[in-house]
Amino acid sequence: MRGAPVSLRRRLVLWLLALAAGLALLLFLTIRTVAGQAAEASLDGVLGAATLAIAEGLRGGEDGVELDMPYSAFSILGSISEDRVFYRIDVAGETVTGYPDLPAPNETSEGVGPAFYTSPYRDTEVRVAAVSRTVLVERSPVPVLVLVAQTRAGQEAIALSVARRAGLLGLGFFALAAVLSLLTAGSVLRPIDRLAEAVARRGPRDLRPVNHPTPRELVPLLDALNGLINRLRGALARTETFIAEAAHHIRTPLATVRTRAEIALRQAETDETRETLRRVIRAVEESSRSASQLLDHATVVYRSDRLAADQVDLARLIDGLADRFAPTAELKDLNLVTEGTAEPVAVPGDRLLLESALRNLIDNAIKYSPSESEVILCLGRREGGVEITVADRGRGLQGQTQSSLSRRFTRGKNVDDVVGSGLGLTIVEEVATAHKGRFGLEDREGGGTCARLWLPSA
Ligand SMILES: Nc1ncnc2c1ncn2[C@@H]1O[C@H](COP(=O)(O)OP(=O)(O)O)[C@@H](O)[C@H]1O
Ligand SMILES: [Mg+2]
Repeated sequence: MRGAPVSLRRRLVLWLLALAAGLALLLFLTIRTVAGQAAEASLDGVLGAATLAIAEGLRGGEDGVELDMPYSAFSILGSISEDRVFYRIDVAGETVTGYPDLPAPNETSEGVGPAFYTSPYRDTEVRVAAVSRTVLVERSPVPVLVLVAQTRAGQEAIALSVARRAGLLGLGFFALAAVLSLLTAGSVLRPIDRLAEAVARRGPRDLRPVNHPTPRELVPLLDALNGLINRLRGALARTETFIAEAAHHIRTPLATVRTRAEIALRQAETDETRETLRRVIRAVEESSRSASQLLDHATVVYRSDRLAADQVDLARLIDGLADRFAPTAELKDLNLVTEGTAEPVAVPGDRLLLESALRNLIDNAIKYSPSESEVILCLGRREGGVEITVADRGRGLQGQTQSSLSRRFTRGKNVDDVVGSGLGLTIVEEVATAHKGRFGLEDREGGGTCARLWLPSA
Protein backbone atom coordinates (compact mmCIF):
# COMPACT_ATOMS: atom_id res chain seq x y z
CA MET A 1 0.00 0.00 0.00
CA ARG A 2 1.26 3.44 -0.86
CA GLY A 3 0.43 6.34 1.45
CA ALA A 4 -0.09 9.89 0.26
CA PRO A 5 3.13 10.79 -1.55
CA VAL A 6 5.44 13.31 0.08
CA SER A 7 5.24 16.69 -1.60
CA LEU A 8 8.67 18.22 -2.12
CA ARG A 9 7.02 21.54 -2.92
CA ARG A 10 5.07 21.57 0.34
CA ARG A 11 8.12 20.55 2.32
CA LEU A 12 10.29 23.19 0.71
CA VAL A 13 7.69 25.93 1.19
CA LEU A 14 7.12 24.94 4.82
CA TRP A 15 10.81 25.00 5.59
CA LEU A 16 11.30 28.33 3.88
CA LEU A 17 8.28 29.77 5.71
CA ALA A 18 9.56 28.50 9.06
CA LEU A 19 12.92 30.08 8.31
CA ALA A 20 11.25 33.34 7.31
CA ALA A 21 9.10 33.32 10.47
CA GLY A 22 12.19 32.75 12.63
CA LEU A 23 14.07 35.56 10.92
CA ALA A 24 11.05 37.89 11.17
CA LEU A 25 10.78 37.18 14.90
CA LEU A 26 14.51 37.78 15.33
CA LEU A 27 14.20 41.05 13.44
CA PHE A 28 11.29 42.12 15.64
CA LEU A 29 13.11 41.28 18.89
CA THR A 30 16.34 42.93 17.77
CA ILE A 31 14.65 46.17 16.75
CA ARG A 32 12.65 46.27 19.96
CA THR A 33 15.66 45.61 22.19
CA VAL A 34 17.99 48.00 20.41
CA ALA A 35 15.35 50.75 20.25
CA GLY A 36 14.44 50.21 23.91
CA GLN A 37 18.09 50.46 24.91
CA ALA A 38 18.58 53.55 22.79
CA ALA A 39 15.51 55.24 24.32
CA GLU A 40 16.68 54.37 27.83
CA ALA A 41 20.18 55.62 27.13
CA SER A 42 18.94 58.95 25.81
CA LEU A 43 16.49 59.46 28.68
CA ASP A 44 19.25 58.46 31.12
CA GLY A 45 21.49 61.07 29.53
CA VAL A 46 19.00 63.84 30.25
CA LEU A 47 18.26 62.54 33.74
CA GLY A 48 21.98 62.31 34.55
CA ALA A 49 22.58 65.82 33.20
CA ALA A 50 19.83 67.21 35.43
CA THR A 51 21.27 65.42 38.47
CA LEU A 52 24.75 66.68 37.70
CA ALA A 53 23.36 70.21 37.26
CA ILE A 54 21.88 70.05 40.78
CA ALA A 55 25.11 68.62 42.16
CA GLU A 56 27.00 71.53 40.55
CA GLY A 57 24.83 73.93 42.54
CA LEU A 58 26.10 72.60 45.89
CA ARG A 59 28.46 74.87 47.83
CA GLY A 60 30.12 74.52 51.17
CA GLY A 61 29.40 77.61 53.28
CA GLU A 62 30.32 78.79 56.77
CA ASP A 63 27.47 77.06 58.53
CA GLY A 64 26.39 74.29 56.20
CA VAL A 65 25.79 73.27 52.65
CA GLU A 66 24.19 75.73 50.30
CA LEU A 67 22.22 74.74 47.27
CA ASP A 68 21.52 76.88 44.27
CA MET A 69 18.64 74.88 42.85
CA PRO A 70 18.85 75.01 39.02
CA TYR A 71 15.13 74.84 38.17
CA SER A 72 15.99 74.79 34.47
CA ALA A 73 17.13 71.18 35.00
CA PHE A 74 13.59 70.19 35.95
CA SER A 75 12.09 72.07 33.06
CA ILE A 76 14.33 70.13 30.64
CA LEU A 77 13.14 66.88 32.18
CA GLY A 78 9.54 68.03 31.94
CA SER A 79 9.95 69.05 28.31
CA ILE A 80 10.98 65.57 27.21
CA SER A 81 7.98 63.68 28.52
CA GLU A 82 4.98 63.98 30.77
CA ASP A 83 6.70 61.90 33.44
CA ARG A 84 6.67 62.80 37.10
CA VAL A 85 10.01 63.86 38.65
CA PHE A 86 11.14 63.34 42.27
CA TYR A 87 14.33 64.37 43.96
CA ARG A 88 16.10 63.98 47.29
CA ILE A 89 19.20 65.60 48.65
CA ASP A 90 20.99 64.01 51.61
CA VAL A 91 23.66 65.82 53.51
CA ALA A 92 25.70 63.62 55.84
CA GLY A 93 23.06 60.90 55.64
CA GLU A 94 20.11 63.20 56.43
CA THR A 95 17.56 64.16 53.87
CA VAL A 96 17.49 67.91 53.77
CA THR A 97 15.07 68.47 50.94
CA GLY A 98 12.91 66.44 48.57
CA TYR A 99 11.31 63.03 49.15
CA PRO A 100 13.05 61.14 51.95
CA ASP A 101 11.47 57.80 50.88
CA LEU A 102 13.06 57.92 47.43
CA PRO A 103 15.11 54.69 47.24
CA ALA A 104 18.82 55.25 47.74
CA PRO A 105 21.45 53.40 45.70
CA ASN A 106 22.80 50.16 47.17
CA GLU A 107 26.38 51.39 47.16
CA THR A 108 27.39 54.97 46.83
CA SER A 109 29.93 55.41 44.09
CA GLU A 110 32.29 58.31 44.39
CA GLY A 111 32.64 58.58 40.62
CA VAL A 112 32.24 61.76 38.68
CA GLY A 113 29.33 60.53 36.61
CA PRO A 114 25.90 59.65 37.95
CA ALA A 115 24.90 56.08 38.82
CA PHE A 116 21.59 54.87 37.35
CA TYR A 117 19.18 52.25 38.67
CA THR A 118 15.57 51.31 38.39
CA SER A 119 13.56 50.83 41.54
CA PRO A 120 9.92 50.49 42.58
CA TYR A 121 8.62 53.65 44.16
CA ARG A 122 5.16 54.26 45.57
CA ASP A 123 2.68 52.84 43.09
CA THR A 124 5.06 52.79 40.14
CA GLU A 125 8.62 52.26 39.06
CA VAL A 126 11.19 54.98 38.69
CA ARG A 127 14.55 55.42 37.07
CA VAL A 128 16.96 57.08 39.46
CA ALA A 129 20.19 58.96 38.82
CA ALA A 130 22.43 59.30 41.87
CA VAL A 131 25.42 61.63 42.25
CA SER A 132 27.63 61.69 45.33
CA ARG A 133 29.73 64.73 46.17
CA THR A 134 31.86 65.80 49.05
CA VAL A 135 31.46 69.39 50.15
CA LEU A 136 33.81 71.15 52.55
CA VAL A 137 32.02 72.73 55.48
CA GLU A 138 34.34 74.47 57.91
CA ARG A 139 37.20 72.62 56.35
CA SER A 140 35.77 69.23 57.05
CA PRO A 141 34.37 67.10 54.25
CA VAL A 142 30.64 66.44 54.30
CA PRO A 143 29.13 63.76 51.97
CA VAL A 144 26.20 64.93 49.92
CA LEU A 145 23.97 62.61 47.88
CA VAL A 146 21.76 63.96 45.09
CA LEU A 147 19.00 61.71 43.74
CA VAL A 148 16.73 62.61 40.82
CA ALA A 149 14.04 60.09 39.84
CA GLN A 150 11.63 60.01 36.97
CA THR A 151 8.75 57.70 36.11
CA ARG A 152 9.23 55.97 32.77
CA ALA A 153 5.82 56.23 31.09
CA GLY A 154 7.50 58.13 28.24
CA GLN A 155 10.03 55.41 27.63
CA GLU A 156 7.31 52.79 27.67
CA ALA A 157 5.32 54.77 25.13
CA ILE A 158 8.37 54.97 22.88
CA ALA A 159 9.02 51.25 23.36
CA LEU A 160 5.41 50.45 22.51
CA SER A 161 5.39 52.48 19.31
CA VAL A 162 8.77 51.01 18.31
CA ALA A 163 7.43 47.52 19.02
CA ARG A 164 4.38 48.17 16.87
CA ARG A 165 6.52 49.33 13.99
CA ALA A 166 8.95 46.47 14.44
CA GLY A 167 5.98 44.09 14.43
CA LEU A 168 4.67 45.54 11.18
CA LEU A 169 8.14 45.38 9.69
CA GLY A 170 8.45 41.74 10.78
CA LEU A 171 5.07 40.90 9.24
CA GLY A 172 6.01 42.65 6.00
CA PHE A 173 9.29 40.79 5.93
CA PHE A 174 7.46 37.52 6.49
CA ALA A 175 4.92 38.21 3.72
CA LEU A 176 7.73 39.05 1.29
CA ALA A 177 9.62 35.92 2.30
CA ALA A 178 6.46 33.84 1.84
CA VAL A 179 6.01 35.07 -1.72
CA LEU A 180 9.70 34.53 -2.44
CA SER A 181 9.61 31.03 -0.98
CA LEU A 182 6.67 30.09 -3.22
CA LEU A 183 8.56 31.42 -6.23
CA THR A 184 11.72 29.62 -5.14
CA ALA A 185 9.90 26.33 -4.68
CA GLY A 186 8.36 26.75 -8.12
CA SER A 187 11.67 27.48 -9.79
CA VAL A 188 13.55 24.71 -7.97
CA LEU A 189 10.92 22.12 -8.84
CA ARG A 190 10.27 23.24 -12.41
CA PRO A 191 12.96 21.00 -13.95
CA ILE A 192 11.34 17.99 -12.27
CA ASP A 193 7.93 18.97 -13.67
CA ARG A 194 9.47 19.47 -17.10
CA LEU A 195 11.15 16.08 -17.02
CA ALA A 196 7.91 14.43 -15.91
CA GLU A 197 6.04 16.19 -18.72
CA ALA A 198 8.64 15.15 -21.27
CA VAL A 199 8.38 11.53 -20.17
CA ALA A 200 4.56 11.63 -20.00
CA ARG A 201 4.28 13.15 -23.48
CA ARG A 202 5.93 10.12 -25.06
CA GLY A 203 3.86 7.65 -26.92
CA PRO A 204 3.34 4.21 -25.43
CA ARG A 205 5.78 2.70 -27.93
CA ASP A 206 8.46 5.34 -27.59
CA LEU A 207 11.40 3.55 -26.05
CA ARG A 208 14.13 5.94 -27.10
CA PRO A 209 16.36 7.17 -24.26
CA VAL A 210 15.08 10.32 -22.55
CA ASN A 211 17.33 13.13 -23.68
CA HIS A 212 15.87 16.04 -21.78
CA PRO A 213 18.09 18.77 -20.32
CA THR A 214 18.01 18.34 -16.54
CA PRO A 215 19.84 19.85 -13.58
CA ARG A 216 22.83 17.94 -12.28
CA GLU A 217 20.92 16.52 -9.30
CA LEU A 218 18.48 14.74 -11.61
CA VAL A 219 21.14 13.18 -13.83
CA PRO A 220 21.35 9.95 -11.75
CA LEU A 221 17.56 9.59 -11.96
CA LEU A 222 17.65 10.17 -15.69
CA ASP A 223 20.48 7.66 -16.10
CA ALA A 224 18.55 5.10 -14.10
CA LEU A 225 15.44 5.75 -16.19
CA ASN A 226 17.37 5.39 -19.42
CA GLY A 227 18.98 2.20 -18.17
CA LEU A 228 15.54 0.83 -17.41
CA ILE A 229 14.22 1.86 -20.83
CA ASN A 230 17.21 0.19 -22.44
CA ARG A 231 16.67 -3.07 -20.61
CA LEU A 232 12.97 -2.93 -21.37
CA ARG A 233 13.66 -2.39 -25.04
CA GLY A 234 16.06 -5.31 -25.06
CA ALA A 235 13.51 -7.55 -23.37
CA LEU A 236 10.80 -6.44 -25.79
CA ALA A 237 13.01 -7.05 -28.80
CA ARG A 238 13.86 -10.53 -27.54
CA THR A 239 10.18 -11.30 -26.99
CA GLU A 240 9.20 -10.12 -30.44
CA THR A 241 12.05 -12.03 -32.04
CA PHE A 242 10.97 -15.09 -30.16
CA ILE A 243 7.36 -14.71 -31.33
CA ALA A 244 8.48 -14.18 -34.91
CA GLU A 245 10.68 -17.26 -34.83
CA ALA A 246 8.01 -19.34 -33.16
CA ALA A 247 5.45 -18.23 -35.75
CA HIS A 248 7.86 -19.06 -38.53
CA HIS A 249 8.59 -22.49 -37.09
CA ILE A 250 4.87 -23.19 -36.77
CA ARG A 251 4.03 -22.05 -40.28
CA THR A 252 6.40 -24.36 -42.10
CA PRO A 253 5.14 -27.67 -40.68
CA LEU A 254 1.56 -26.42 -41.03
CA ALA A 255 2.10 -26.04 -44.77
CA THR A 256 3.24 -29.66 -44.88
CA VAL A 257 0.20 -30.81 -42.91
CA ARG A 258 -2.03 -28.90 -45.26
CA THR A 259 -0.51 -30.44 -48.39
CA ARG A 260 -0.78 -33.93 -46.88
CA ALA A 261 -4.40 -33.31 -45.87
CA GLU A 262 -5.25 -32.11 -49.38
CA ILE A 263 -3.72 -35.22 -50.92
CA ALA A 264 -5.60 -37.36 -48.43
CA LEU A 265 -8.82 -35.51 -49.23
CA ARG A 266 -8.43 -36.37 -52.90
CA GLN A 267 -7.86 -40.02 -52.04
CA ALA A 268 -10.58 -40.24 -49.41
CA GLU A 269 -13.30 -42.73 -50.03
CA THR A 270 -16.08 -42.01 -47.56
CA ASP A 271 -17.96 -38.74 -47.13
CA GLU A 272 -17.24 -38.84 -43.44
CA THR A 273 -13.47 -38.88 -44.00
CA ARG A 274 -13.75 -36.13 -46.56
CA GLU A 275 -15.70 -33.94 -44.12
CA THR A 276 -13.14 -34.56 -41.38
CA LEU A 277 -10.28 -33.72 -43.72
CA ARG A 278 -12.01 -30.50 -44.83
CA ARG A 279 -12.27 -29.51 -41.19
CA VAL A 280 -8.60 -30.30 -40.70
CA ILE A 281 -7.67 -28.15 -43.68
CA ARG A 282 -9.78 -25.28 -42.41
CA ALA A 283 -8.23 -25.47 -38.94
CA VAL A 284 -4.75 -25.62 -40.44
CA GLU A 285 -5.55 -22.60 -42.58
CA GLU A 286 -6.74 -20.70 -39.55
CA SER A 287 -3.61 -21.56 -37.58
CA SER A 288 -1.35 -20.65 -40.43
CA ARG A 289 -3.12 -17.33 -40.88
CA SER A 290 -2.77 -16.61 -37.17
CA ALA A 291 0.89 -17.50 -37.30
CA SER A 292 1.37 -15.12 -40.25
CA GLN A 293 -0.34 -12.33 -38.42
CA LEU A 294 1.69 -12.94 -35.28
CA LEU A 295 4.76 -12.71 -37.44
CA ASP A 296 3.48 -9.49 -39.03
CA HIS A 297 2.63 -8.02 -35.68
CA ALA A 298 6.00 -8.88 -34.22
CA THR A 299 7.66 -7.27 -37.23
CA VAL A 300 5.59 -4.11 -36.82
CA VAL A 301 6.37 -3.80 -33.13
CA TYR A 302 10.03 -4.54 -33.68
CA ARG A 303 10.45 -2.09 -36.55
CA SER A 304 8.16 0.73 -35.50
CA ASP A 305 10.74 2.55 -33.38
CA ARG A 306 13.47 2.24 -36.02
CA LEU A 307 11.51 2.73 -39.24
CA ALA A 308 13.32 2.29 -42.49
CA ALA A 309 13.05 5.64 -44.24
CA ASP A 310 12.40 4.55 -47.84
CA GLN A 311 10.36 6.42 -50.39
CA VAL A 312 7.55 3.96 -50.91
CA ASP A 313 5.56 4.14 -54.14
CA LEU A 314 2.07 3.38 -52.91
CA ALA A 315 0.65 3.05 -56.43
CA ARG A 316 2.98 0.19 -57.21
CA LEU A 317 2.47 -1.35 -53.81
CA ILE A 318 -1.33 -1.36 -54.21
CA ASP A 319 -1.17 -2.74 -57.75
CA GLY A 320 1.14 -5.49 -56.56
CA LEU A 321 -1.18 -6.40 -53.69
CA ALA A 322 -4.20 -6.37 -56.00
CA ASP A 323 -2.41 -8.88 -58.23
CA ARG A 324 -1.47 -11.00 -55.23
CA PHE A 325 -5.06 -11.07 -53.92
CA ALA A 326 -6.63 -11.61 -57.35
CA PRO A 327 -6.82 -15.43 -57.00
CA THR A 328 -8.49 -15.18 -53.56
CA ALA A 329 -10.96 -12.63 -54.92
CA GLU A 330 -11.66 -14.80 -57.91
CA LEU A 331 -12.58 -17.73 -55.66
CA LYS A 332 -15.44 -15.59 -54.32
CA ASP A 333 -16.26 -14.03 -57.68
CA LEU A 334 -15.25 -10.69 -56.20
CA ASN A 335 -14.31 -7.74 -58.32
CA LEU A 336 -11.10 -6.17 -56.94
CA VAL A 337 -10.80 -2.64 -58.40
CA THR A 338 -7.88 -0.20 -58.02
CA GLU A 339 -8.26 3.56 -58.50
CA GLY A 340 -5.68 6.34 -58.63
CA THR A 341 -2.69 4.05 -59.14
CA ALA A 342 -1.77 5.16 -62.66
CA GLU A 343 0.85 7.66 -61.46
CA PRO A 344 3.50 6.91 -58.80
CA VAL A 345 2.56 8.31 -55.37
CA ALA A 346 5.50 8.25 -52.98
CA VAL A 347 5.47 8.61 -49.21
CA PRO A 348 8.39 8.28 -46.81
CA GLY A 349 8.01 5.12 -44.76
CA ASP A 350 8.79 1.49 -44.23
CA ARG A 351 7.75 -0.64 -47.20
CA LEU A 352 7.44 -3.82 -45.21
CA LEU A 353 5.15 -2.26 -42.61
CA LEU A 354 2.98 -0.40 -45.14
CA GLU A 355 2.57 -3.57 -47.14
CA SER A 356 1.61 -5.51 -44.02
CA ALA A 357 -1.04 -2.90 -43.10
CA LEU A 358 -2.56 -2.84 -46.59
CA ARG A 359 -2.52 -6.63 -46.81
CA ASN A 360 -4.58 -6.81 -43.63
CA LEU A 361 -7.09 -4.23 -44.87
CA ILE A 362 -7.56 -6.00 -48.20
CA ASP A 363 -7.76 -9.36 -46.45
CA ASN A 364 -10.57 -8.08 -44.21
CA ALA A 365 -12.45 -6.51 -47.12
CA ILE A 366 -12.37 -9.75 -49.11
CA LYS A 367 -13.08 -11.97 -46.09
CA TYR A 368 -16.09 -10.01 -44.93
CA SER A 369 -17.64 -9.42 -48.38
CA PRO A 370 -20.34 -11.59 -49.94
CA SER A 371 -19.47 -13.20 -53.27
CA GLU A 372 -20.10 -11.28 -56.48
CA SER A 373 -19.57 -7.90 -54.86
CA GLU A 374 -16.89 -5.29 -55.38
CA VAL A 375 -13.89 -4.18 -53.32
CA ILE A 376 -12.36 -0.83 -54.24
CA LEU A 377 -8.75 0.11 -53.45
CA CYS A 378 -8.47 3.84 -53.94
CA LEU A 379 -5.35 6.01 -53.67
CA GLY A 380 -5.69 9.78 -53.44
CA ARG A 381 -4.05 12.93 -52.08
CA ARG A 382 -5.66 14.57 -49.10
CA GLU A 383 -4.79 17.18 -46.43
CA GLY A 384 -1.10 17.37 -47.27
CA GLY A 385 -0.81 13.61 -47.32
CA VAL A 386 -1.95 10.48 -49.06
CA GLU A 387 -5.08 8.53 -48.27
CA ILE A 388 -5.71 4.90 -49.14
CA THR A 389 -9.30 3.74 -48.88
CA VAL A 390 -10.37 0.11 -48.94
CA ALA A 391 -14.14 -0.07 -49.45
CA ASP A 392 -16.30 -3.18 -49.54
CA ARG A 393 -20.00 -4.02 -49.75
CA GLY A 394 -19.83 -6.52 -46.91
CA ARG A 395 -21.66 -6.83 -43.61
CA GLY A 396 -20.52 -3.47 -42.16
CA LEU A 397 -19.45 -2.89 -38.58
CA GLN A 398 -22.94 -3.38 -37.12
CA GLY A 399 -22.52 -0.69 -34.51
CA GLN A 400 -19.11 -1.75 -33.24
CA THR A 401 -16.49 0.94 -32.72
CA GLN A 402 -13.13 0.98 -34.35
CA SER A 403 -11.33 1.46 -31.04
CA SER A 404 -12.76 -1.76 -29.61
CA LEU A 405 -12.09 -3.71 -32.82
CA SER A 406 -8.49 -2.52 -32.97
CA ARG A 407 -7.58 -4.15 -29.69
CA ARG A 408 -5.17 -7.09 -29.86
CA PHE A 409 -6.84 -10.42 -30.49
CA THR A 410 -10.26 -8.78 -30.47
CA ARG A 411 -12.71 -9.88 -33.14
CA GLY A 412 -16.10 -8.44 -33.90
CA LYS A 413 -19.38 -10.18 -33.13
CA ASN A 414 -20.35 -9.84 -36.81
CA VAL A 415 -17.80 -12.39 -38.04
CA ASP A 416 -18.37 -15.70 -36.26
CA ASP A 417 -18.47 -17.56 -39.58
CA VAL A 418 -15.12 -16.31 -40.84
CA VAL A 419 -11.65 -17.32 -39.62
CA GLY A 420 -9.40 -14.67 -38.12
CA SER A 421 -7.14 -13.90 -35.20
CA GLY A 422 -8.10 -10.34 -34.31
CA LEU A 423 -4.65 -8.92 -34.99
CA GLY A 424 -5.25 -7.26 -38.37
CA LEU A 425 -6.56 -3.87 -37.27
CA THR A 426 -4.01 -3.77 -34.43
CA ILE A 427 -1.27 -4.07 -37.04
CA VAL A 428 -2.86 -1.37 -39.23
CA GLU A 429 -3.20 1.03 -36.34
CA GLU A 430 0.37 0.46 -35.19
CA VAL A 431 1.71 1.04 -38.68
CA ALA A 432 -0.34 4.26 -38.96
CA THR A 433 1.00 5.50 -35.61
CA ALA A 434 4.59 4.62 -36.49
CA HIS A 435 4.25 6.69 -39.68
CA LYS A 436 2.56 9.59 -37.85
CA GLY A 437 -0.55 8.89 -39.90
CA ARG A 438 -4.16 8.09 -39.04
CA PHE A 439 -6.39 5.09 -39.46
CA GLY A 440 -10.18 5.04 -39.50
CA LEU A 441 -12.77 2.32 -40.04
CA GLU A 442 -16.38 3.28 -40.68
CA ASP A 443 -19.63 2.06 -42.17
CA ARG A 444 -19.88 2.87 -45.84
CA GLU A 445 -22.78 4.70 -47.38
CA GLY A 446 -25.01 2.22 -49.14
CA GLY A 447 -23.75 -0.73 -47.06
CA GLY A 448 -20.38 -2.24 -46.31
CA THR A 449 -17.26 -0.93 -44.66
CA CYS A 450 -14.73 1.71 -45.59
CA ALA A 451 -11.21 1.69 -44.13
CA ARG A 452 -9.08 4.81 -44.50
CA LEU A 453 -5.36 4.98 -43.96
CA TRP A 454 -3.91 8.47 -44.15
CA LEU A 455 -0.14 8.99 -44.31
CA PRO A 456 1.78 12.26 -44.30
CA SER A 457 3.75 12.76 -47.52
CA ALA A 458 6.72 14.57 -45.92
N1 LIG B 1 -14.15 -4.90 -43.83
C1 LIG B 1 -14.76 -5.24 -42.68
N2 LIG B 1 -16.09 -5.47 -42.64
C2 LIG B 1 -16.70 -5.81 -41.48
N3 LIG B 1 -16.07 -5.95 -40.29
C3 LIG B 1 -14.75 -5.73 -40.27
C4 LIG B 1 -14.03 -5.36 -41.45
N4 LIG B 1 -12.73 -5.20 -41.10
C5 LIG B 1 -12.66 -5.47 -39.78
N5 LIG B 1 -13.86 -5.78 -39.27
C6 LIG B 1 -14.19 -6.10 -37.88
O1 LIG B 1 -13.04 -5.82 -37.09
C7 LIG B 1 -12.64 -6.99 -36.37
C8 LIG B 1 -11.15 -6.98 -36.21
O2 LIG B 1 -10.51 -7.11 -37.43
P1 LIG B 1 -9.08 -7.74 -37.49
O3 LIG B 1 -8.27 -7.09 -36.46
O4 LIG B 1 -8.59 -7.69 -38.89
O5 LIG B 1 -9.32 -9.23 -37.01
P2 LIG B 1 -9.89 -10.46 -37.83
O6 LIG B 1 -10.07 -10.04 -39.25
O7 LIG B 1 -8.84 -11.48 -37.69
O8 LIG B 1 -11.15 -10.81 -37.15
C9 LIG B 1 -13.16 -8.12 -37.20
O9 LIG B 1 -13.30 -9.27 -36.41
C10 LIG B 1 -14.46 -7.57 -37.69
O10 LIG B 1 -15.45 -7.68 -36.69
MG1 LIG C 1 -8.31 -9.27 -40.30
